[in-house]
Amino acid sequence: MDLKSRIDLTHLPEHIAIIMDGNGRWAKRQGQPRVFGHRNGVKAVREATEAAAELGVKYMTLYAFSTENWNRPKFEINALMTLLVKTLRTEINTLNENDIRLEAIGDITKLPSQCYKELIEGIENTKNNKRMTLVLALNYSARWEITEAVKKIAEGVANKEILPEHIDKRIFENALTTKGIPDPELLIRTSGEARISNFLLWQIAYTELYFTKIFWPEFRKEHLYKAILDFQSRERRFGKTSEQIVK
Ligand code: FPP
Repeated sequence: MDLKSRIDLTHLPEHIAIIMDGNGRWAKRQGQPRVFGHRNGVKAVREATEAAAELGVKYMTLYAFSTENWNRPKFEINALMTLLVKTLRTEINTLNENDIRLEAIGDITKLPSQCYKELIEGIENTKNNKRMTLVLALNYSARWEITEAVKKIAEGVANKEILPEHIDKRIFENALTTKGIPDPELLIRTSGEARISNFLLWQIAYTELYFTKIFWPEFRKEHLYKAILDFQSRERRFGKTSEQIVK
C-alpha cells in the first residue's frame, strides 16, 4: 500500500507547523549559491501545501523568516524578500483555486514595503477560502511574540481592563499573534537539526516533534505522508497515563 493510502484520515493533525531548514546546505552540496536553495525551496512549499490540503489538514504554518534571519548577509535577505514577493504574486491564484486562505504571523509591518503590501493583498484576496489556512511566519520569533503579548496584557492591566488575578491561559492566548489558530499537533523540522529555534514556543507545549534528514528543497508529498504516519503511530497522553487514554 502506498504511503498516502495508509494515512487514517479520521486522525489527521489539524495543524502542522514546519521549520523549513537546509536550503543553504542543499545548494552548497551542488556547488550553487545559497539563494539557489531558497528558490528550490518554493517547490517544496507548493508540494507540502498541496499535500496537506488534499488530505484535509486545516492549518499549516511555515517558518519562512525569523527575526534572527536579519543577521544574514544583506544579499541573501534581499533575495529572500524578492522571492517572497514573486511567490506571493504568482501563487495567490493557485491558493484561490484550491480554496486556501493565507495568513501571516510575526512583526510583518517591519518587512520591506513591497513584501508587506503583497502579503496584505494575498491575505485580503484569500480571506474567504475555507479548505485550509496557510500561515506564513515572517519576521517571527516566539520570544518576540510572547514579549508582545505580555506588553498587551500589561497595558490592559494599566487601563484597568484586565485584573491581574484574571490573567489565564485564554487571556494569554488571545494576546498572541496566533489568536484563533489551534496549537499545532505536529511540528516537522527538515535538514537533520533537532531544535526549535524560537518557533511557536507557547503553542508547541503538547506538539509531537518530527525531525527528518531531508533538506527542505528535497521535501515532497511523500515526506509529509511519512511524518503524518509517524504522528499517527504515537500515543498522545497530555500528562495522563496510557490506561486513561480512550482509544
Ligand atoms: C532555511 O534554510 C530556510 C529559510 C530561512 C527560508 C525559507 C524560505 C523559502 C523556502 C522560500 C520561500 C518561502 C515561501 C513561504 C514562499 P537555511 O537557509 O537556514 O539553510 P541552511 O541551514 O542549510 O543554511
